[in-house]
Amino acid sequence: MDKLVISGGAKLEGEIRISGAKNAALPILAATLLSKQPIVLANLPHLQDVTTMLELLRTMGVDVTINEDMSVEICAGSLNSVIAPYDLVKTMRASVVVLGPLLAHFGEAIVSLPGGCAIGSRPVDLHIRGLEALGATINVEDGFIKAISNGRLKGAKILFDMVSVGATENILMAAVLADGTSIIENAAREPEVIDLANLLIAMGAQITGHGTDTITVEGVEALHGCEYKVMPDRIETGTYLVAAAMTGGKIKLKDTDPSTLDAVLMKLEDAGLKIEIEGNNIIGDMTGRTLKAVDITTAPYPAFPTDMQAQFCVMNAVAQGVSTIKETVFENRFMHIDELIRMGCDAKVNGNTCIITGVKQLNGAPVMATDLRASASLVLGGLVATGDTVMDRIYHIDRGYECIEEKLRQLGAKITRLVGKR
Ligand code: UD1
Repeated sequence: MDKLVISGGAKLEGEIRISGAKNAALPILAATLLSKQPIVLANLPHLQDVTTMLELLRTMGVDVTINEDMSVEICAGSLNSVIAPYDLVKTMRASVVVLGPLLAHFGEAIVSLPGGCAIGSRPVDLHIRGLEALGATINVEDGFIKAISNGRLKGAKILFDMVSVGATENILMAAVLADGTSIIENAAREPEVIDLANLLIAMGAQITGHGTDTITVEGVEALHGCEYKVMPDRIETGTYLVAAAMTGGKIKLKDTDPSTLDAVLMKLEDAGLKIEIEGNNIIGDMTGRTLKAVDITTAPYPAFPTDMQAQFCVMNAVAQGVSTIKETVFENRFMHIDELIRMGCDAKVNGNTCIITGVKQLNGAPVMATDLRASASLVLGGLVATGDTVMDRIYHIDRGYECIEEKLRQLGAKITRLVGKR
């Protein structure tokens, strides 16, 4: 199994380009199932999760071509199976977003249940209930969600009793081909939901209200092909800014979208990072400044994202002062804390709250990645720790950070990948 070795102490300096957003790319790839015509996608990140979603589409008979300019052309006109098998779904929970588009376009979908997840039980009840409201018949049997619609789905009012990004995306994709009007209430307002809606609109869908908590969809009979560029990754952007803050460096992140990062940028400024925005670029400068601990509470967008919680924990671990981190989106999303404690972090977890007291120095240690963002926090810890941090199970980080060691090395970090070492 590959490992990452990070030798701490380098101040990050220089500039890198931010990749396309994983969490926008995955539902957008699923949305290609809604048309028989080709969809050409630019700015797809080169990530394991994207490869898994492309593999899933291929197993259904979808035609996937990688063009010379690295755009990917996808055509579901050749689809010959509506089954999302366990082997692929178990490696990536987000595969469940193929359920809505398959059902809406082909009248049937058989999608393996994603199973447990390291960061909480993460059920799919909201996805199922939403699709039932649109007229689908759904049975969960033998570990599969089996969904059938009798003709076209029917537009309906769907009220989610909690905010779910994936359920909003699934229902939105199902509603675009339904007969009549659908109103999705308490919808997720995440920028990735807006990106998906914009792709669907480019395919001919009629959607309003995306980016608010009420999305209205007028169903259309068919969607057509289009070209679309995936939005930049706000979590990758935030992670590198935390790296600049922790190492006392100055970095420029190009081709990102600062407007999607308000809550994160505000907290980084509170922590002492000087932030300058130049169009689509963000400069984070910590030169000569003192890192201060900041309290955070995670919640759905536009509040502070749960996907940045682990990175802020490690930043607070080496900041001046005591901080309180409250996780309200996922149960059991503090597994990185045990690993950070092994590196010398002073932290106590009580239920969904973690209290962190800043220490002067973290120490390099062998650590194990437990999930995607947890692994990012361990890399960040390694950047400022004394000696070497050796991180195991790095397949987690490859799911969500494109070329992480190349990008960090470009900024001056000392990081290497040991291939196939046990
Ligand atoms: C997406 C993101 C993930 C991010 C999360 C929250 C993708 C591919 N992943 O995940 O990176 O951390 O949003 O911003 O976009 N829930 C239910 N029933 C359901 C669905 C969800 O109870 O049917 C609960 C979950 O267990 C969780 C909360 O709702 O506690 C939010 O989950 P959700 O927004 O659905 O997360 P994902 O879409 O899986």
